[in-house]
Amino acid sequence: MPKFFITTAIDYPNGIPHIGHAYEKVLADVIARYRRLCGDEVFFLTGVDQHGQKMLQTAEQEGVNVATLARRNTRKFLALWEKLGVNFDGWAETTDQDHKVCVQKILTSLHQEGQLYKKAYKGFYSVRQEQYLTEKDRNENGEFGAEWGKVIELEEENWYFKLSEHADWLGKMVRSGKFAVLPEFRRSEVLNAIDRAGETDLCISRPKERLHWGIEFPFDPDFVTYVWFDALINYISFAGYLKEPGSDLPEFSQLWPANAHVIGKDILVPAHSIYWPCMLRAMGFSDEEMPTLLVHGWWNIKRTDENSDQEGDIEEKMSKSLGNVVDPDQLAERFGVDAVRYYLVRDIVTGKDSAFDMARLITLFNAELANDLGNLLNRSLNMTKRFLGGELVISGYDDEACSGVRESLSSSTDAFLSAMNNYDLPDALKALNAHVVHCNQFIERNPPFELRKDEAQADRVAAILFHLCESCAHLAVLLSPFLPSAAEKILHQLRAKEIAPSTIDSLQWGLLPPGHLTGKPKPVFPRILLDEDE
Ligand code: MSP
Repeated sequence: MPKFFITTAIDYPNGIPHIGHAYEKVLADVIARYRRLCGDEVFFLTGVDQHGQKMLQTAEQEGVNVATLARRNTRKFLALWEKLGVNFDGWAETTDQDHKVCVQKILTSLHQEGQLYKKAYKGFYSVRQEQYLTEKDRNENGEFGAEWGKVIELEEENWYFKLSEHADWLGKMVRSGKFAVLPEFRRSEVLNAIDRAGETDLCISRPKERLHWGIEFPFDPDFVTYVWFDALINYISFAGYLKEPGSDLPEFSQLWPANAHVIGKDILVPAHSIYWPCMLRAMGFSDEEMPTLLVHGWWNIKRTDENSDQEGDIEEKMSKSLGNVVDPDQLAERFGVDAVRYYLVRDIVTGKDSAFDMARLITLFNAELANDLGNLLNRSLNMTKRFLGGELVISGYDDEACSGVRESLSSSTDAFLSAMNNYDLPDALKALNAHVVHCNQFIERNPPFELRKDEAQADRVAAILFHLCESCAHLAVLLSPFLPSAAEKILHQLRAKEIAPSTIDSLQWGLLPPGHLTGKPKPVFPRILLDEDE
């Protein structure tokens, strides 16, 4: 059985999760569930990045102990993923003892291999990005731009990783596609950044006197590990790399390399595309053992700027300081989990940005789920109950309209699979909707409620209803990675839960056997209604 190892970025639990974090987890969850449906053995790893200066700063601002803050906020992330049906197999918390031990083993071995050295540094440091700055980081006005936040001058000794030694190799790996970055257009961003990597090494420690919240250096206890060096290692430590005897972590050799590290565009360069592959290489991973990066865009906030000359909507970043953060927990309370999951992956092309828009969320849910799919299921089951006593008959009747339904399902399924294999989730959903629309038109053109008035049309009516119910069963299976609980409800109403195949390979026409008894329709996607004054 092929394996599929998928991870997401681990979130900083220094605040509450917003829809950007939620999008990434739902995206990864849909892919994981889809791969399972393809018959792969899937391991989905996600978690939280609990160390670093940001965590410490927030704890200081809130007057709480940093470990308490990390634990408290980690619970919020866990509760949200549970609520949104994000079904992971491995949970990474970087304060976990197994992870600490793994990071320390890696540091010791890199030290022994001559990949680390200590030197003094004097210069500028961005507190927000937790990064040392060089002259090249200044903008055209010679200043460190707003993206760096507060910049301080400091002088300190630190440990460095010989990143520059791996820059030529990395360039070749990216150009040859052996180290893959998806979507394709993100590759040039990485290539531009590699030139710089050849010029500088990576500072991987922080003096404890300035930052104590991190993993201690095993051979120099005055230092803790730089948060990114620590965090990136989660992808292997929680997959069982260098695990202690008797540990219940997974078998590393069966998972690695990761088939998809799902990350946002902001952490592609330098962390995931420069530091990470070079770290892996220095640890002794071969060219064939490099992971694949799947880079998604950002959910921004749509707002109309009254003071702007520009017409229309303006997008701005979501941030705590702007106070425009959309809370996925509240959204799910208000509109339901299905609406949130559907919207987050339906209205953003993987790799690109999109602007969050509540009205769009409602429109898409009401149009594609409540009106199109919900209606189709409701009508199909209702008519089967009323006209056939709920019992599906294979009447032998066939005509162009019926074969049109089979062809539509087959081409929608093909389009769905090809979009999913390209990580194009919106197109996959559009492909399913095309079949739903086809079926609804099929009802309009071949109305069973009219045809049944003529007894001679009984076989035709039976064939129409079979085509509709069979379509609903296929749609539920294909939709299940996106809307697992709604898919289950649909299959339950069709009384097809037990016969629905667990893999796409076995999803063949004729799922519902002759004499199959369907159940009662009950709205799966109740329309979202807003009060007049909202
Ligand atoms: N802790 C680091 C990642 C370490 S991975 C070894 C981090 N954390 S984060 O909380 O700031 O971001 C976590 C993920 O959420 C990142 O992939 C980031 O791109 C994603 N998002 C944060 N805001 C986002 C949006 N507004 N939209 C979509 N994704 C966004 O970076």
